This record gives sequence, C-alpha cells and structure tokens, in this order.
Amino acid sequence: MKKKVVSFLLCAAMATGLLAGCGAADDGASTAAGTEAAESTSAEGNGDLPILGAGIYSSTDNFNSYIGKAIANAAKGVFQVNVDDGQLDQSTQLNQIDTAIAKGAKAITVSVVDITAAPTIIQKCEEAGNIPLIFFNKEITDKEVVDSYDNLYQVTSTGGDYGANIQGEEVAEWWKAHPEMDKNKDGKLQLINIMGDPSHTATQPRAKAVKDTIEKAGIELDVLEEDTGKWDTATAKEKMDAWISKYGDEVECITAANDAMALGALQSVEAAGYNEKGEESDKYVPIFGIDALPETLTKIESGEIAGSVLQDAKTQGETIVKIADNLVNGKEALDGTDLEFDTDGSKAVRIPYQAISKDTLQIAEDSYK
Ligand code: GAL
Ligand code: CA
Repeated sequence: MKKKVVSFLLCAAMATGLLAGCGAADDGASTAAGTEAAESTSAEGNGDLPILGAGIYSSTDNFNSYIGKAIANAAKGVFQVNVDDGQLDQSTQLNQIDTAIAKGAKAITVSVVDITAAPTIIQKCEEAGNIPLIFFNKEITDKEVVDSYDNLYQVTSTGGDYGANIQGEEVAEWWKAHPEMDKNKDGKLQLINIMGDPSHTATQPRAKAVKDTIEKAGIELDVLEEDTGKWDTATAKEKMDAWISKYGDEVECITAANDAMALGALQSVEAAGYNEKGEESDKYVPIFGIDALPETLTKIESGEIAGSVLQDAKTQGETIVKIADNLVNGKEALDGTDLEFDTDGSKAVRIPYQAISKDTLQIAEDSYK
C-alpha cells in the first residue's frame, strides 16, 4: 500500500493570517445550530478576507462536528468562514450554500447531507463562476459526478476499508493477548458488530473489513448480531440494551463502526454491570470504535473502551483550508504541502487513520490540541 506523507505545515497559511491581521477571522465560527444568522452577520464584518462557504451535514454527528471546528480553526486569518449546520436536511444545506454564494464566497466546502445532491451543489459552484468545491468526510464515489467538475476536490481518510482493517487488527491483538476473552472456551470469537448509517459510503466497507481482518488473523468468528446504530450514541445504546440482556456473557467483543456508537454500547453494558472499572471489572467486554474522539480517549485511558482508530479531523480541516486558500489564490491545490492526490486519478486527498490504544493515546490527544 502506498504510504502518504502528511507532515503538513501551515506556515504559509499562518503567515497570510498575520499579514491580514489575526483576529479578523470569525471568532464565532462554530457549528452550533440556530446561530447561523448571527454568525454570518459577524462574518460579514471581517473585512478583507475572502469568504469560504462551509457546512457540515449535522451537528448531531460528533465526528462531523469536529471537522467543522477544525475548518473554523484552520481558517482563522485566512478566510471569513461560518460553518453551517445542515441539520440533516438537504434543502437546508442547499439554502446555506446559496446564501454563501450570494455573499460572494470564493470557495465552498461541505460534507453533504445526501450524496445524491452532489450534482446540484456542483452546478451551483459552476454558475457562481467555477468556484472551487471541496467535499469532505462523506465521499462522493460516483466517478461520473466527480469527473463532471474540474474544480472539484475531496478530503477524506485513507483506503476502501475506512479504517476498519486497523480496528480488526486491534481486536486480533487483544484476542491473542487476552486468552480470557474466549469466555465460553469454544475457540471462536462471539462478536456484536454495530454498523454505521445504511446510506453512508463507509458503512458496508467498515462492516466487511473489520470481520475480514479478524478472520485473516486466524480467528474464527461467530457474529451474534450485526445491525446499524446510525452513527448515533442513543441508537447504539438502545440496540445494545436488547443484546446485552439477551446474550450477557456470551458477548466476547463489541466492534462499533464509530466512537459515538461505541460510547452508546459502553453506556449500555455499564448499566448491565460491565466495564465500569476497566479491565479490573468483575464483568468485562472489550469494545472497539473508530474516530478516536476526545470523549472516547478518557474511556480508553480508564480501560472502559479497549481501542479506537484515529480519524484525523484536525489534519482534514487544515487540508481543506489549505486547498481552498491555494485555489483562491490561483495556485495549484496542493502547493506548499507534502500531500498527494490519490493514485486513482481523482483529486482526493486521503488522510491516514492510526491505531489508538492506551499506549498510543498521545497521538490522538495531540490531534485535538
Ligand atoms: C465517518 C465517521 C462517523 C460519521 C460519518 C459521517 O467517517 O467515522 O463517525 O461521522 O463519517 O459522515
Ligand atoms: Ca468464544
């Protein structure tokens, strides 16, 4: 597999910021819903900086919100930006894009609510004078759509497995290091796998990759349950409540396709008497997530969650802003960076995932500083 170097320095962007006068960026740039009007107004007062129209698909999605914050942080001194909350509603998000364009946005970056809306968003950018459009997090995979606009870029994370190979390796390592994980001593791993939102590009690949990797490591799997938790803590908790009461100690491992759901599973098993004291608990079931959100890191430290996979929101946010800044200033998209586009010919930058356990917490902590 090709290794991409992501030693990514923002000196250029920061220097621009200093020249343009730091503090000019929209301090109110946040992803909070309902404050959009006020934030947009304040952003207008920010003088000379170009406008970046930015939007996440929903502030209810923890990880998406962290990328939104990373964009707002990276944009300080570079763009006037107001990160809109699409509120899970495609027409709301399209209106937000219209508003940004009407205000003179020089570039647009969004995590779409619904990937089938990509052509409409492309058309809006085209009509606004071929302004750069950078999709993030929710990848547009329809090649025809991607190739239909020259000024289209994507910033996501590496690989077709969406980080789940690493998650599978973490499970396999745990199994090898903890013989007691095989509670019923049948030589198989009884697993519950909580999947992402069914409409999401990463959902099927993550579910497949985590299981394939565990099996490739020579572990026979017995999947007790596999169902969607819709990326959501409450949904995952509700499903896990039913499963833990049905299976109890039969459950030997829980993999969740993101940390929000791993946290929901944790709440559920803790209510059933598991994991509260980490591995020292009387009853324990290892839980693995993906994203390595700050709210999970404390749970990994305490041992309540066994591991996660860092999806680097900060570097994604910095990359988005750097690409937009370069393009708005007439430079090549990746000018001044060590980044490369994917070899598949699309203008996609993929930021690597990284394994996070108790021993490597620092990597994830640093990425949220
Ligand atoms: C995934 C992430 C999930 C969720 C989803 C939404 O990459 O792991 O937590 O944020 O994107 O698009
Ligand atoms: Ca077993």
